[in-house]
Amino acid sequence: MQQADGVPAVDLSRPSAARVYDYFLGGAHNFEVDRQLAEQIAAMTPHLPATMRAGRDFLRRAVRVLLDAGIDQFLDIGSGIPTVGNVHEVAQATDPAARVVYVDIDPVAVAHSRELLAGNDRATVLHADLRDPERILAGARSGGLLDLDRPVGILLAGVVHFVPDADRPAEVLATLRAAAAPGSFLVISHSTFEDQPQEMLDAQRLSARTDTEITLRSRAEITGFFGDWTVLEPGVVHMPLWRPDSPSDVDDRPERFGAFGGVARHDHTPG
Ligand SMILES: C[S@@+](CC[C@H](N)C(=O)[O-])C[C@H]1O[C@@H](n2cnc3c(N)ncnc32)[C@H](O)[C@@H]1O
Repeated sequence: MQQADGVPAVDLSRPSAARVYDYFLGGAHNFEVDRQLAEQIAAMTPHLPATMRAGRDFLRRAVRVLLDAGIDQFLDIGSGIPTVGNVHEVAQATDPAARVVYVDIDPVAVAHSRELLAGNDRATVLHADLRDPERILAGARSGGLLDLDRPVGILLAGVVHFVPDADRPAEVLATLRAAAAPGSFLVISHSTFEDQPQEMLDAQRLSARTDTEITLRSRAEITGFFGDWTVLEPGVVHMPLWRPDSPSDVDDRPERFGAFGGVARHDHTPG
């Protein structure tokens, strides 16, 4: 089922990735069909809810690094259902003038984001598909909140693994990078099969029941999404290892969070 804007409408007969994720994070924006799948996944991989929280923590740390580097506008694609520590809250706590455009394919995520952002004239949400980056860029430009001639932080947290190889994720990423001014940053976290136990790989197969099946990728493939941008230290690493707030925040087995995270900067190379 499609809406006039070309993205799917709410389908309550199938679980949605955004609502399953919301359930894992303790949110209330999910339905029975989502909770059933979430419980099934959780039974197979008891560690998964912690993985999702580790993903939010990685995103928060990365946004702070971008803010420190002077980034004051963010394009957060696959932003999900609003939960604690949303990007505009983190960003605007440091820089009240910071602007954020959220993008999600899930109509429930978009509706809740719209509700949360009512009255905030520096943050908005677009209902769009990462696989159509031109549309996202056009929407971001026309909304007037983002100026893509200036450095921007493009956030792709836990979303590129929803784009199968057949939908050419490398081309999607190249389009986004090409639209960003020098000095821009790209933040990616992405599920991986590297170092993963069998139950994690089995749980990944369950994601085929949602509209958005997950494609696990290698560290090399994920690093490739940064193109020729400069990957910041410590590189593309298991998420808890990316600039932890404190050494005690790093789990003794960081690989069990099942996803790599990294941040890269578009350095201007004249000529
Ligand atoms: C795991 S959640 C991540 C949410 C948030 N970025 C975070 O890190 O906490 C993934 C989100 O990506 C969205 N998503 C999946 N495929 C997408 C696509 N093709 N275009 C836009 N959003 C998509 C889902 O609806 C979901 O809200």
